[in-house]
Amino acid sequence: MTKREKLLEAIDKKYKAVGQDPDVHLSGLLHAESMTYWDFIQLDALLGLQIKRTQHPDEMVFIMYHQISELLFKMILWELGQISHNENIEPQRFVMHLMRVSRYFDMLSNSFDIMGEGMEVEQYMKFRDTLTPASGFQSVQYRKIEIASTELINLIDYRFRETIDRNTPYIYAFDNMYWQVAGINAKTGQKNKAIQNFEKRYKKELIEWMKGYNEVNLWTKFKQLPDEYRNNAELLNAMRHYDHTVNIDWVMHHYHAAAKYLDSGKKAAKATGGSDWHKYMHPKYQKRIFFPELWSKEELANWGLSNLEGYKKIS
Ligand code: HEM
Repeated sequence: MTKREKLLEAIDKKYKAVGQDPDVHLSGLLHAESMTYWDFIQLDALLGLQIKRTQHPDEMVFIMYHQISELLFKMILWELGQISHNENIEPQRFVMHLMRVSRYFDMLSNSFDIMGEGMEVEQYMKFRDTLTPASGFQSVQYRKIEIASTELINLIDYRFRETIDRNTPYIYAFDNMYWQVAGINAKTGQKNKAIQNFEKRYKKELIEWMKGYNEVNLWTKFKQLPDEYRNNAELLNAMRHYDHTVNIDWVMHHYHAAAKYLDSGKKAAKATGGSDWHKYMHPKYQKRIFFPELWSKEELANWGLSNLEGYKKIS
């Protein structure tokens, strides 16, 4: 059988299996428009999404860099999903997807200078008031990445971890996630507008997400790999690299960018989302860690203190 005959036979089989006439589909192919780059990647839709709220041209940089970050978040979620929703994932596939995720997060960390270096304080200050009380804090994809990466207990505020176990209702876990503190006024105990808006829009969706990833998050899937993989130096390094990139590198780049703008005046500026941001954003306070079991006691104690100097590789 020639290559073409084999192809026709495969097409025949595919459409007959779903009760469709293969000839109609072949005829459709004959009349179809030629594929173009701009249609394939939906360029018009993508480039129609950059809408400024002020008269200041630099606001465009801020909007687009956030959009780029959200696209990378989506790429990360896509790969995490490929690991989590594959019941019998082969270890090599696990490594492949994890390395993709790591590369995307490296890109996010390494590109933060687009804001930190690329925009002067006066330029940023001109448009920031207009976006209040919106904040990257309301990024649902960022929260989904965290939930898909580790067990919920590792995302619970330190002060409440002992009150939570596997039988705790999801709603209680949600109310005690580490990031809730950024949305609560310490004096009044009231939730601020940023978190109220966020919960109204995403609370239900995030609770469903928690349920969905409870037993298939990255950390649980890693623990289910055969021994030889769990002890493999390359994979261990990749897991540690991911944890370090998300919870120290990106966080510190973000912190430094925020400090450049918010600490620039005589009096420290308030975060648009409203958090006590110095304390909230620095990793040395909250010690958010996806895979605590993969770090030594010393590394855990120094979490966030060694800044961007890196960490030891396992050999
Ligand atoms: C100069 C630019 C930036 C400043 C000054 C800034 C400031 C802040 C502050 C102060 C917070 C704490 C919550 C609050 O009270 O608002 C926050 C949270 C957050 N921001 Fe930014 N941010 C900047 C750029 C970005 C970019 C480009 C992204 C990319 C999507 C981003 C994503 C986030 C996320 C995901 C959080 C929540 C993180 C967490 O809970 O630890 N931010 N940001």
